Amino acid sequence: MPTITFVEPDGTRRDVSAHPGESLMAAATRANVAGIIAECGGSAMCATCHCYLVAGDLPEAEALEAETLEFVAQNVQASSRLTCQVTVTDAMAGTVLQVAPR
Ligand code: FES
Repeated sequence: MPTITFVEPDGTRRDVSAHPGESLMAAATRANVAGIIAECGGSAMCATCHCYLVAGDLPEAEALEAETLEFVAQNVQASSRLTCQVTVTDAMAGTVLQVAPR
């Protein structure tokens, strides 16, 4: 299981063991990472799972994720991702994500 680090809004670093095949959002919510609300349950509608990629390499965002980032998310940066739309793989070990401010 790869370990993913989420940096919470107050700067707390949380190392989370993620299961390959689940979303980064699912791993974060299971670990109660602060600031990951996931109101829509992972259907790319709410942007309350928005994080910035700090370290690591993730697959490119698909169209639905990109549209929600453009039209729903706030404080969007080039590194923005909707963690519900990213499926965990073993290659993501060491990835660091900063939870976006609301
Ligand atoms: S959980 Fe709603 S967009 Fe990710």
